[in-house]
Amino acid sequence: MAATAVLSALLSAVLTTAIAWTSLLDREDERLRGAAQTLGLEVPAAMDEATARGHADDEQAEVAVAGMRIALYRAGAFVGGDASLRPSAAEGCRTTGRGWRQCRVTLPTGAVEVTSDLAAARSQRSLLLGAALLAALLAGLAGLGLSGAVSARIARPLQRLREEVAAVDADAPGRALPGGGDGYAETDALRASLGEMLSRLDEALSQSRRFAANAAHELRTPLGTMQAELELSAEGVLPEEVRDSQGRVLRTLGGLNALVERLLILAAPVESLRGAREAVSLSDVVEEVRAALDPAARQRVRSAVDEGLHVRGDALLLRVMLENVVGNALKFAPSGAVTVRAEADGDAVTLEVTDEGPGVAPCDRQRVFDAFYRSAGARAEGVRGHGVGLALVARIARAHGGSAAFEDAPAGARLLLRLPRWAPAERDATMRAL
Ligand SMILES: Nc1ncnc2c1ncn2[C@@H]1O[C@H](COP(=O)(O)OP(=O)(O)OP(=O)(O)O)[C@@H](O)[C@H]1O
Ligand SMILES: [Mg+2]
Repeated sequence: MAATAVLSALLSAVLTTAIAWTSLLDREDERLRGAAQTLGLEVPAAMDEATARGHADDEQAEVAVAGMRIALYRAGAFVGGDASLRPSAAEGCRTTGRGWRQCRVTLPTGAVEVTSDLAAARSQRSLLLGAALLAALLAGLAGLGLSGAVSARIARPLQRLREEVAAVDADAPGRALPGGGDGYAETDALRASLGEMLSRLDEALSQSRRFAANAAHELRTPLGTMQAELELSAEGVLPEEVRDSQGRVLRTLGGLNALVERLLILAAPVESLRGAREAVSLSDVVEEVRAALDPAARQRVRSAVDEGLHVRGDALLLRVMLENVVGNALKFAPSGAVTVRAEADGDAVTLEVTDEGPGVAPCDRQRVFDAFYRSAGARAEGVRGHGVGLALVARIARAHGGSAAFEDAPAGARLLLRLPRWAPAERDATMRAL
């Protein structure tokens, strides 16, 4: 942009000077022709050569004062005036090799050659070029500054809109773009259209959530009833094969019940998951998750949790989140230690779960957080699951203002949960108030 401004400034300066130079030459030609006409008037065609020479010499003396030289030729022969002035080859005016302007005017009395030095005009031209360059450059720079300010002003509402669109919450897009208009018809119209589109998206999202929540709700009661009935009948005396098959059905029902509960959490809007805002101790969460494991699994889980780490949120959901991550580590790494580490990191706490299993390939690290996505390895090895756990983990982390991601690890999987830390000062103030 700056180069264009400078280039156009240079171009306009050169053009201005060229136009000025042409009109300067025109004026000089007019002056020279005027002098020739004057000599023509003083020397009629019939005047004898001696008298004509006298007039031409007198005229030369007069025009010399104005920086001109003049000479009269008849039939190609010099008659009078400045004898050093050579006759031109053709009618009209031209600039000679020595930088003089010379005109030949053919009159009844003969051909008048008249010339003047362009040195003064040339220095005027240089001055003019310098001034035009300076003026054009200044105008270019001013234009550049002005256009920068104008484009920044025009871009501001677009920039604001871009930031608002970037901040759209994927869970509740309808609440985006709340800000009023910027006073620019075009961006206001764009904002309104985007707002309408996001509202429609929000409605579609809510509908599918309602559908999933209703379906899960409808399944919850009959599944619970079936499980209770089966448990009751299992208490009676039954043949071994019936007992085995009942056990399998009961396990499947247990899994289905757990899936329905998880689907209900997934279908709930993030807002409703943000409900409880109690101070939750991370060491308590980790201990509760460990305690709920069967003894063999518990032996594999090691924990290193910094004392006094708290986050603000829902203890139950945070436990569900960690249960899923630890459950995955135990399930996908059939042997080896699973380590849970929690530490403060500025305003955040990081909860890291590592295992010694096959790990998650970089190409899968995003998609494993999609509901019902399972990696090809998990499917091929027949590891049980529905692909819902990590979607739940990501949702609960997000509801708490945090994030979940798989990071590089020397071996096995390394899942990093980042949550906003409930700072001790804030926590103590709340405790005092209670
Ligand atoms: N620790 C891990 N090591 C290797 N792969 C993992 C690990 N954790 C998750 N994955 C991969 O991510 C996928 C999604 O995990 P997610 O917990 O959502 O589903 P799942 O455990 O297969 O089923 P569900 O949790 O519903 O029982 C898994 O199928 C697996 O491919
Ligand atoms: Mg899982």
